[in-house]
Amino acid sequence: LKRLTVPAIRARKVDGTTAEPLVMLTAYTVRTAQLLDAHCDLLLVGDSLGQVVYGLPSTVPVTLAMMAAHGAAVVRGSWHAVVAIDMPFGSYEASPEKAFESAAWLLKETGAAAVKLEGGEAMAPTVRFLTERGIPVIGHVGLTPQAVNMLGGYGARGRSDAEAAKIEGDARAVAEAGAFAVVVEGVVEPIAIAITRALACPVIGIGASAQCDGQVLVAEDMLGLFERVPRFVKKYDDLGARIGEAAARYAEEVRARSFPTDDQVYAPRD
Ligand code: KIV
Ligand code: NA
Repeated sequence: LKRLTVPAIRARKVDGTTAEPLVMLTAYTVRTAQLLDAHCDLLLVGDSLGQVVYGLPSTVPVTLAMMAAHGAAVVRGSWHAVVAIDMPFGSYEASPEKAFESAAWLLKETGAAAVKLEGGEAMAPTVRFLTERGIPVIGHVGLTPQAVNMLGGYGARGRSDAEAAKIEGDARAVAEAGAFAVVVEGVVEPIAIAITRALACPVIGIGASAQCDGQVLVAEDMLGLFERVPRFVKKYDDLGARIGEAAARYAEEVRARSFPTDDQVYAPRD
């Protein structure tokens, strides 16, 4: 099983349609990557790890070093999916040159194939600068969590005509600048559908529409491992509850001295 490539992902959308939708999940650790890899076309090392792994209040404090450490782990734990790494807040916005330096460092440190960055028209020159210099880019428009201090929260985007037009323009701008895919997050469904129809490259939805060219979710959200979960997340399991139950059984057995048993202790000779 050879690893998928960025051109292969891009080529999944032909003449405006994607026969088989793209499957993408986040992964932050080697074990999660190993478990998810065979099922996914893309693994995203999302800066959502700031909240999910580190308990930070938003993605704003996430650093390049954090993304590199987790990105390297995910590349080591995968062999099939394209691994893309989020560029963290502050590592790319100031200039295309700054973005290139940050993105190149991430790819060198990790072996990942691509980066993702948030923003539309304002970031289009940066997307062009990176893609023309050998760094594949996934765009991210609509609800862009790194802009939480500007947006004031994580509510759905595109409810007014002006905002909808802005988001569609943003998606077009990053796609035309060379993004090989665009994530559309937290927008009202008609906008997600319009963007999916408008862009030549695959549009990957989250809180968007089943008509997008693919879907992405935060793995911990869909597995039931993270408590604060947006409305657009479907919980495919409740691993949080199962971990709690396992810990409770362990605690009970330790306190009752019923763990360890003979199976788990070493006899002097066998
Ligand atoms: O950081 C992240 O996990 C993301 C996805 C939700 C798209 O950006
Ligand atoms: Na992100």
